[in-house]
Amino acid sequence: MVQIADMTKEVLSAILKSIDEGIHAVNTEGKTIFYNKVAAKHDGLTIDEVLGRPLIEAFPSLTENSSTLLRVIRTQKPIYNQTQVYVNKHGNRIETMNTTLPIFVRNKVIGAVEIAKDYSRMKLLAERLLELQKGFSNIEKNGRPGTNVKYTFSDLMTVNPEFIRIKEEAMKLAKADSPILVYGESGTGKELFVQGIHEASRRSDGPFIAQNCAAIPETLLESILFGTAKGSYTGAIERKGLFELADGGTLFLDELHTMPIELQAKLLRVLEEGTVRRVGSSHNISINVRVAAAMNEHPSQALQEKKLRSDLYYRLNVFTFSLLPLRERKDDILFLTDYFIKMYNNDLRKAVSGIEREVEILFLQYPWPGNVRELKHSLEYMMNVCEEEKLAFSDLPIMLKNKSLPSEELQISAESLSLRKNIRNLEEKLIESALEKTGGNINQAAKLLEVPRQTLQYKINKYSDLLSEN
Ligand SMILES: Nc1ncnc2c1ncn2[C@@H]1O[C@H](COP(=O)(O)OP(=O)(O)OP(=O)(O)O)[C@@H](O)[C@H]1O
Ligand SMILES: [Mg+2]
Repeated sequence: MVQIADMTKEVLSAILKSIDEGIHAVNTEGKTIFYNKVAAKHDGLTIDEVLGRPLIEAFPSLTENSSTLLRVIRTQKPIYNQTQVYVNKHGNRIETMNTTLPIFVRNKVIGAVEIAKDYSRMKLLAERLLELQKGFSNIEKNGRPGTNVKYTFSDLMTVNPEFIRIKEEAMKLAKADSPILVYGESGTGKELFVQGIHEASRRSDGPFIAQNCAAIPETLLESILFGTAKGSYTGAIERKGLFELADGGTLFLDELHTMPIELQAKLLRVLEEGTVRRVGSSHNISINVRVAAAMNEHPSQALQEKKLRSDLYYRLNVFTFSLLPLRERKDDILFLTDYFIKMYNNDLRKAVSGIEREVEILFLQYPWPGNVRELKHSLEYMMNVCEEEKLAFSDLPIMLKNKSLPSEELQISAESLSLRKNIRNLEEKLIESALEKTGGNINQAAKLLEVPRQTLQYKINKYSDLLSEN
């Protein structure tokens, strides 16, 4: 029995000493009974300066009232996620997120423990981000406040009847002020779509601010969205959040389903009341912001997995748009191919007229998991390496070549029986696989292929794109 208790104590102590959070525990007399290295680092003290001593003595700037540990012992109530800002003995500004808990043994408080996460660096990054956002929205664009919007609906290209219908509906609804929810796999054009709505709305002169909810930890996301009030206790500075910065415009919340559930509740309140309250403030600020949210997970799945609050979903569900994946609008594949070729012809000063039939067949068969983005980037690559009038199979990015065709198989173009083309393909594949096997050694590859080295070199030069890929 005693042994198990000892073991538990040792295990616990080992854990507490090695975790990334600062841990500080005091007993009811206010003396420190546990203090780990991380806490000592935050405070700029040594463990010996604190352990076993009264808290007030080790931290002369604290009082019975201002110390959260001593307060928790008195009130017996936990304090969760409280920001603390202080300058330690070495003059470093430390910002921590603390949770302070009373420790009960048989219903009696025997002390309190504080767990502190240092988030000074994270905070710094988040603040830079806000400054950047603010900078962007202040940039003058065509004599009006910059909205950093790159696209309008005219950039959203499609010939697919269903997609055309969605686009037309969005153009109509753009004028309303209701929130929007856009769902679509990665690369289906959600951002382009939302920017199009902003540009077609009455708010097009106002700011467009985008925030990816997945990129920021929960506590910071809240202050980024809603701002912070100057708090004597938390030390936070007075700062506008994105809602205030986006006033009169659109706030695009990308990957909404990654937003923590409690924050979703606060977002819902903002949507319903049209006001925000800065973190640490007690008064509401009216805002006039249209929220556009995007998700790459299906809303019903996100609801089921409890990643999305149903009340928020119903609030956003007024205008929901589901963008089809590219493989479900095959008519767009060749249309967009043509569109991007023209675009890159312009950018790269080339005169490519289209794609070879075999590439066309492959494009139509390929499932395009990265959707339009993947198609666009594949074409950008092909346009750069292509030397003929049309983009050929050999111009394909290696990933697409490998993914789409089993490398060992001879792929005969279904439409074209041209001997020259099919042999060229086979030759290229054999050379490619010989070079792969020999790690790019041309001598060894020539042996494998049973051709003179010079012949192989000549062929490699001919299919020069192979060289850049090996
Ligand atoms: N219909 C389209 N017409 C022209 N370009 C498009 C179209 N759809 C997407 N694109 C282009 O594809 C790229 C990806 O689009 P976008 O960033 O809007 O996708 P997304 O759905 O937001 O993707 P993610 O979920 O990965 O953020 C962009 O370069 C965009 O210009
Ligand atoms: Mg996006």
